[in-house]
Amino acid sequence: MNGINLLQQARHCGERFSASTGLNSDNLTSGQKLAVNYFTVAVILFIAQILFGLLAAMQFIWPAFLLDILDFNVNRMVHINAMVVWMLYGFIGSIYWLLEDESQTEIVGLPLGRLAFWVLTAAVTVVVLVYLLIQTGAGKDSSLWLINEGREYIEAPRWADIGIVIVMLVFFYNVVATFSKGRWSGIAGVLTLDLVALAGLYLAGMVYMTNLSQDQYWWWWVIHLWVEATWEVLVGVIMAWTLMKLLGVRRQIVQTWLYIEVALMFGSGILGLGHHYFWIGTPDYWLTIGGFFSALEPIPLVAMVVHAIYDTGRHSFKNSNHPALAWVIAHAFGNFLGAGVWGFMHTLPQINLYTHGTQWSASHGHLAFFGAYATINIAFFYLAIQHWRGNIWMGEEIEHAWRWKWAIALLNIGVMGMTVALLIAGYEQSFIERALEGSSWAGYFSGQNHPAFQNAMVWRLLFGVVTAAGLGLLVWDLLTIGKTETRLAKVIGAESAES
Ligand code: HEM
Ligand code: HEM
Ligand SMILES: [Fe+2]
Repeated sequence: MNGINLLQQARHCGERFSASTGLNSDNLTSGQKLAVNYFTVAVILFIAQILFGLLAAMQFIWPAFLLDILDFNVNRMVHINAMVVWMLYGFIGSIYWLLEDESQTEIVGLPLGRLAFWVLTAAVTVVVLVYLLIQTGAGKDSSLWLINEGREYIEAPRWADIGIVIVMLVFFYNVVATFSKGRWSGIAGVLTLDLVALAGLYLAGMVYMTNLSQDQYWWWWVIHLWVEATWEVLVGVIMAWTLMKLLGVRRQIVQTWLYIEVALMFGSGILGLGHHYFWIGTPDYWLTIGGFFSALEPIPLVAMVVHAIYDTGRHSFKNSNHPALAWVIAHAFGNFLGAGVWGFMHTLPQINLYTHGTQWSASHGHLAFFGAYATINIAFFYLAIQHWRGNIWMGEEIEHAWRWKWAIALLNIGVMGMTVALLIAGYEQSFIERALEGSSWAGYFSGQNHPAFQNAMVWRLLFGVVTAAGLGLLVWDLLTIGKTETRLAKVIGAESAES
């Protein structure tokens, strides 16, 4: 049955349906309204991430650009902090979005959740303003509390750290109390356990130590165990729910996959942490442990690709949200390539000896964060927009489909282009600075001044502009897609609801 037939059927049944579907908040539950706030800030921070990335990339080519006004270290910090925060906003929003549906009841303590959103957003704004306007402080405790903690990716000052922990506790309360009042499911159980781990790990990044080896030792607990364990499980949960809604996959199927993926992910990702302990002054046994377990980490990512492709192949005919589905597929492949393949390339200590801390890491970092986490968030934005506009048809033959198609193409080509440019630079650094020149100081400069490195930096900027164009188009599309659509989506999810 096609969308038009369903529309007629819906009208026949006397359902309310406005032909000029704007964004209508009546279509949303209270949790979904809060989710929309989170998504809005996420998109704004995504734009900020890209703008500051462009500034940092320009400084690689013109080192005097904005010198003493917005130095490279500041732009880089805002670039990657904005990334971490927008992705977390996206995840929190996605969970508020699905919470009522999954638990079959209203959110418990929602006013507190709403307050937490505003507190968090105010804190993020202040932190960014301090990063930009104050930038650095004296080397004493007050700088740590008020300006920044100096820990890459989680630079937020201590006062904000404490605020973030409180906001997370409120979020956790919303989730657990709602499931407890309504219905627990396998998805709910995995989500709850994962949130405990995710929030708990953040605490490891809040302890400052004067011994740098110890400091790095704990810092990696947040950085590695977030992205290679708890965030992966979180996207597993979001994917499971999304596949049910998007394709009508049965709950037993997604849940079984989820359990397998979670077991594999924790099985390899926890000790895989050792791949960051090779050269920071930790005992030698980490070379073996880290090398072995992190080499297993791509396995769950293969499972996720198989899962997505299997479900999509079986159910694609029922899909009525092509942009969301396309981004889900981009997620499965991006996660596998960026984290799995690009991670695996430099995870054995014998190789990492040469590649450590070169642009190789940046190449992997870009493809992994984009492929694994930007994609799934964008998929969810499309899912949310569809519902917000009154569950309209977003399958084939929608108006202005070129926009979402070009957005996904430009974003993926842009990030892939940057990834390849950085890989070439990293290869050249490993070869010249490390292998030929034995990691000497002079070797470092030979590596930096080589044309292969310098050209790569230009290519990175050019592909960065392509990425930015893709993002511009994406935002435009998210704001306008389905505005004039009058057909209703097919009823998806009946199958999963039954089971
Ligand atoms: C989505 C998951 C992942 C994300 C987002 C991610 C992201 C990153 C980032 C941003 C860095 C650079 C950290 C820094 O600033 O020093 C990094 C380093 C690294 N990643 Fe991943 N990663 C992921 C998964 C993996 C996997 C599965 C592997 C192995 C199979 C891996 C292997 C490594 C290694 C060995 C390094 C250290 C590079 C060096 O020595 O400089 N990563 N990762
Ligand atoms: C316009 C597009 C972008 C440009 C021009 C850009 C540029 C940069 C630059 C110059 C750095 C500093 C690298 C260094 O210290 O050597 C950086 C770091 C980083 N960027 Fe981007 N970026 C862009 C988009 C993205 C996207 C879309 C993501 C992920 C979703 C991302 C994730 C990261 C990460 C994780 C790092 C830290 C890498 C590491 O520590 O190894 N960037 N970026
Ligand atoms: Fe790692």
